[in-house]
Amino acid sequence: MNKVIEKLIRPEIRALSAYHVPPADGLIKLDAMENPYPMPEALRRDWLAALQGAALNRYPEPSGEQVRVALREAMAIPDSQSILLGNGSDELIQILAMAVGEGGVIMAPEPSFVMYRMIATLTGMTFAELPLRPDDFSLDLPEALARIERHAPKLIFLAYPNNPTGNHWARADIERILEAAPGLVVLDEAYEPFADDSFLGDLDRYDNLLVMRTLSKFGLAGLRLGYLVGAGAWLNEFDKIRLPYNINTLTQISAAFALRRHEVFREQAGRIRADRAALFEALDNLPGLEVFPSAANFILFRTPQGRAEAIHAALLEQGVLIKKLDGGHPLLRDCLRVTVGTPDENRRFLEALRGAMG
Ligand SMILES: Cc1ncc(COP(=O)(O)O)c(C=O)c1O
Repeated sequence: MNKVIEKLIRPEIRALSAYHVPPADGLIKLDAMENPYPMPEALRRDWLAALQGAALNRYPEPSGEQVRVALREAMAIPDSQSILLGNGSDELIQILAMAVGEGGVIMAPEPSFVMYRMIATLTGMTFAELPLRPDDFSLDLPEALARIERHAPKLIFLAYPNNPTGNHWARADIERILEAAPGLVVLDEAYEPFADDSFLGDLDRYDNLLVMRTLSKFGLAGLRLGYLVGAGAWLNEFDKIRLPYNINTLTQISAAFALRRHEVFREQAGRIRADRAALFEALDNLPGLEVFPSAANFILFRTPQGRAEAIHAALLEQGVLIKKLDGGHPLLRDCLRVTVGTPDENRRFLEALRGAMG
């Protein structure tokens, strides 16, 4: 059996580990950048009524037309741009890589969202790193431009703000990269609900720019809906790779329903932003921690040297699940990342952290 597996499965796949999601039953879950607020009760009744009309015996509407109309309105997507839907933005990253692969290079800063590297490997492409400065995770632009020239990447992913560091790259640096890149540059705006800037309004200025977003951080992670915005000429090509009916009927109805009431989710994001500021201050006041400013719904912090694993474990013992990043990228040595939860969850996290720090 093992011999057959070795013969059949590509070595780069055998070398990978499956994306690991830790069990969270009964824990305060602050590890995955979810919105902690459920859909308000008053909306929930209307949402369930909308779902009653779902024709589950039929295939879904193939292009998610209603969702795209609702997205255009809710997100003020310019009429000059097209929209492609994915089963989460993960699927869109995969579609992009499949469209330009096999062979060739995908680049992204590191540390950043792990799926860029993983999907490059899955699709037979090479991944190359854009360097970040260790003190504030800003882009090392001269070195980044040199590497772009050397590798001539087909795709560059820039998470804006970045996960797991929480910072925005400087706009001027991104513009230089857009001008220098020989291929496509995808601005991954997964954390747009919590950020102050976007490249949506810049799409008309650059032929090689695409903006990718998701409803996951907006408050609808369970739906799995990502969207890519860009010129129709590009998106028509990617649409050929999208598997038929990739957005199921329940997701289409629910997403269109929620987007028509987007101000409810914007209000939740506003609360999360305010609570982020309070959580930042509380962490910053804890002796021994280095806390990094965040434009997203999570905060990265560095524990005293060699303590990250023990602190992470002690939090877990007290029922709080956050993300341990120490042991991944060298720039994340001693680092942990906490998602901004409800005020009560944040308080319980801080209490547990104070206990764990001793
Ligand atoms: C930068 C970034 N992009 C994309 C995603 C994935 O989004 P989705 O849930 O739409 O697949 C994440 C998830 O954490 C992320 O951090």
